[in-house]
Amino acid sequence: MINVQNLTMRIGTRELILDANFRIDKGMRIGLVGRNGAGKTTLTRLLAGEGVASQVIEYAGTITKSGSVGYLPQDTHTGDPEQSALDRILSVRGIDATLRRIAKAEQEMSTSSGAKQQKAMERYVRLDQEFTAAGGYAARAEAAQMAASLGLPDRALAQKLGTLSGGQRRRVELARILFSQAETLLLDEPTNHLDHDSILWLRDYLRTYKGGFVVISHSVELLAETVTAVWHLDANRAALDVYSMGWSDYLTQRELDERRRRRERANAEKKASALLAQADKMRAKATKAVAAQNMARRAERLLEGVEDERKADKVAHLRFPSPASCGKTPLTATGLSKSYGSLEVFTGVDLAIDRASRVVILGLNGTGKTTLLQLLAGIEEPDTGSIIPGHGLKIGYYAQEHETIDLNKTVVENLAYAAPEFNETQVRNVLGSFLFSGEDADKPARVLSGGEKTRLALAMLVVSAANVLLLDEPTNNLDPASREEILSALRRYEGAVVLVTHDEGAVQALNPERVLLLPDGDEDLWSDDYLDLIALA
Ligand SMILES: Nc1ncnc2c1ncn2[C@@H]1O[C@H](COP(=O)(O)OP(=O)(O)OP(=O)(O)O)[C@@H](O)[C@H]1O
Ligand SMILES: [Mg+2]
Repeated sequence: MINVQNLTMRIGTRELILDANFRIDKGMRIGLVGRNGAGKTTLTRLLAGEGVASQVIEYAGTITKSGSVGYLPQDTHTGDPEQSALDRILSVRGIDATLRRIAKAEQEMSTSSGAKQQKAMERYVRLDQEFTAAGGYAARAEAAQMAASLGLPDRALAQKLGTLSGGQRRRVELARILFSQAETLLLDEPTNHLDHDSILWLRDYLRTYKGGFVVISHSVELLAETVTAVWHLDANRAALDVYSMGWSDYLTQRELDERRRRRERANAEKKASALLAQADKMRAKATKAVAAQNMARRAERLLEGVEDERKADKVAHLRFPSPASCGKTPLTATGLSKSYGSLEVFTGVDLAIDRASRVVILGLNGTGKTTLLQLLAGIEEPDTGSIIPGHGLKIGYYAQEHETIDLNKTVVENLAYAAPEFNETQVRNVLGSFLFSGEDADKPARVLSGGEKTRLALAMLVVSAANVLLLDEPTNNLDPASREEILSALRRYEGAVVLVTHDEGAVQALNPERVLLLPDGDEDLWSDDYLDLIALA
């Protein structure tokens, strides 16, 4: 349980929440929504107790917690890279330590002799009994089962964290938090990087979860299926609006509230202007001057009493650049293979990207979609094969984890780097149209919210005049209105696009001609039958 009273929260120069009161009671299932940069991540960090010690988040008010809290951050880069994935999951219940001691005893039993071996054997038996009594083996099986449901096979569980892909890393963290069985879960965009099956599994899991949770998500399906309360963080008013109802009722209620406010406002304005007109007339007569003044005051009070109209969230208007001219086939790849260690990702992939062509790359998770884009972008080297740039090729690469952004530079510096021919005013103008105001533009990119990073990465693409866009999950992190913008930009773009996504809407917006299937590297003409596969990817 978490109880919050009179909370005011600031980060940097922004006030994100003003005097809010709310509580997470046992078993409550809450969806936390609001536009990109509203402060959802900051709020959950505060509730989880992170960023408070370092005083990045300033707050006033009281937060009381009882029971265990499990927190899944939006960006997961924690954990020892040398630790195995399974150990990382088990560590949340402290099981990994016992397993390590058992393994050590086993080792000593086989390498020592005499009294020492005898001791190790006794220790082994004792530890094993303890472990079994504590439900250790069952718990380990449970963890592995959970990981498998989230798309992590046993093979990946044995790998060290440092060798896992971003998506796998994220699954490990999610499995770990769920495995903790904490009384309250705080989940920041848990479906990012998950494939369709895992998302379905997560939905079911959350629906029957015994504890309470707060989930931040832009996925309407997840919210509609799992939550019984909605918190809307309104960035324009720095207010947290609490609705104790499910998702679809919330949508209706918000609409009704909005209409009521508009009606009340219109009524008040009508009455006030009648009063003021009357007051004007009476003011002329000395005997009625006092009454006229009272009337005017009453009109003022009427207007004060009604709430201001709530502004709709602003959205960045996005248009991809007119592509620089290029030859008929700006990008060709032949015989590409890539392995990581002993793991062969794909072999012998051929691909030719013609001017203005549209290709979707499909494949189950772990089949190397991101890797292929990295090879095409020239960020990774293939083991065999080659990438042949055509005449006039200009690549625009949108990286899934925003690797194209230099986190230590400011927003302005990042964009200036992407568009060296722009002067500072032009840079700031572009950023302004992507909703980075003067102050926001001077922030180091490190502190940007997930959606803001996506917005910056897109701005960097837009200034590039690229004629081949390589897009890796470009709709992740975006609030629904911003997602619509990028989809329509994609529809209108005239250059070539290679797209990796598990967002069906993004594929429909692209209207692709061809599909490349990984890991085999087979090409096919696009047909809508492939739509079913996207969700699985
Ligand atoms: N250390 C910091 N210094 C200055 N500003 C910061 C810092 N950390 C976050 N911010 C800003 O605070 C605002 C809220 O960020 P937060 O990550 O909480 O948003 P969010 O609602 O989670 O957004 P998204 O949907 O994009 O994930 C953003 O404008 C962000 O740039
Ligand atoms: Mg966030």
